[in-house]
Amino acid sequence: MDYSIESAPLDKLQSDCLVVGVYENQSLDKNAKQLDALTHGLLSRLLGRGDIKAKVGETLFINHTGLAGVERIVLLGFGDKNQLNRKSYRKAIQSLVKLLREAKLKSATAALLDIEVQAADLIWCGRQIVEVIHEGVYQYSATKKIDDKVALTHLAIAANAEQLPLATQALQQGQAIAQGVELAKHLADLPGNICTPTYLAQQAQTLAAHHPDLQCDVLEEADMQALGMGALLGVSRGSRQPAKLISLHYQGADAGVKPIVLIGKGLTFDAGGISLKPGLGMDEMKYDMCGGASVLGVMRMVTELNLKLNIVGLIPASENLPDGDANKPGDILTSMAGKTIEILNTDAEGRLILCDTLTYAERFNPDVVIDMATLTGACIVALGRVPSGLFGNDDALCEDLQRAAEVACDAVWRMPIWDEYQEQLKSNFADLANIGGPDGGSITAACFLANFAKDFRWAHIDIAGTAWRTGANKGATGRPVPLLSQYLINRAG
Ligand code: BES
Ligand code: MN
Ligand code: ZN
Repeated sequence: MDYSIESAPLDKLQSDCLVVGVYENQSLDKNAKQLDALTHGLLSRLLGRGDIKAKVGETLFINHTGLAGVERIVLLGFGDKNQLNRKSYRKAIQSLVKLLREAKLKSATAALLDIEVQAADLIWCGRQIVEVIHEGVYQYSATKKIDDKVALTHLAIAANAEQLPLATQALQQGQAIAQGVELAKHLADLPGNICTPTYLAQQAQTLAAHHPDLQCDVLEEADMQALGMGALLGVSRGSRQPAKLISLHYQGADAGVKPIVLIGKGLTFDAGGISLKPGLGMDEMKYDMCGGASVLGVMRMVTELNLKLNIVGLIPASENLPDGDANKPGDILTSMAGKTIEILNTDAEGRLILCDTLTYAERFNPDVVIDMATLTGACIVALGRVPSGLFGNDDALCEDLQRAAEVACDAVWRMPIWDEYQEQLKSNFADLANIGGPDGGSITAACFLANFAKDFRWAHIDIAGTAWRTGANKGATGRPVPLLSQYLINRAG
């Protein structure tokens, strides 16, 4: 899929399909008005006839225009002009891409930058067009033959001379974010027998090879042993695939600038270990590496935009499988931080690979540390599949993330990590238990992590409910790449 900016005026435009916006009460957007004049009132006639009410996302396909350059027109509804918010704008673009797919069009021109969206600017609109369309044409094909390939391969965004500079920026950002999301989705959709810890490490190395400011180091199990990462190694004991601790170093700012450290859970398959999960839906545990995939996606975005930031990406990658040598309930592991951990349930493995990675993050003298993890089913019970759970020890950092989430339409909801919950993690035999009982499971998981994040500003994003869709539409979403991208773009200023 490629994208471009079309700066020819509508009367000179060559397009397979020109998309313009309409509002309820038969009102036309600026570009639609112009097109209406060029077509001698065709659009207002169709609106007047009631062919389209222009509710958000409603479309009308016109396959004959009478114009020399424009083959087809799509009228796209944006609802009430005075109530158009970010979500409705995205919803409209989502239904546009559905229509373009169904009509099997190869290319289209979107003249939608004059649509006014509450609390959003032109850059945001342009970016969303790219992000939503890119998402809408994504097709998984790594292990499956596709009969009905999406025809759409080119999208142009119409911008006048005045809009051109911002539109260009929007296109760059939109493409960078969309490619980051695509990478995260692709890796996450791959099966566990292909996407192993070693495979993830190779992907990180490939990414680094493509950019001079990005460097990749991979710690092997022997290195982890030397560092005392007993918690991480405890999880990988039961697996024949060696664990990897992948680190990516991006230097876009002066060497002295403290890095933003991003950590992503890279559990390439979570069977639960000796505390084996039930069989139903267990295939979805290939998605337990979505946090790690998001780190790779974000790194791809950052290198694409050459953001002036220093960023360290850390991905603890392992499988969690039952085995004669796997760790068992009652076993006690010693973490890199020196704290002992009683394993009460081997299925609570994410926090074990993350706690050693949090300790490891200290050596980078981080400005902030943000981890992303498909950590708890309890997070889905608490919040459903709409927002990710946000936890953190620093209000300013959490507020920055909340703001970025809103703009990116990649929602989060803040949850508490009060000291009272630490009671649930007490053990008679170790400094900490790895589970806190049935109550508040996503909170006690975050509280477990908080014990290893005392020396820096830290946020944890539980993406168990948001990183992939379940059911007939099963597939990775690429979240929270949009949120992190927005946060980093904001930080870069
Ligand atoms: N990867 C899972 C969390 C998960 C479950 C994500 C379902 C998405 C959907 C995690 O490793 C896990 O198994 N957590 C346990 C924790 C429990 C044993 C305290 C869970 O959520 O059941
Ligand atoms: Mn688990
Ligand atoms: Zn897991």
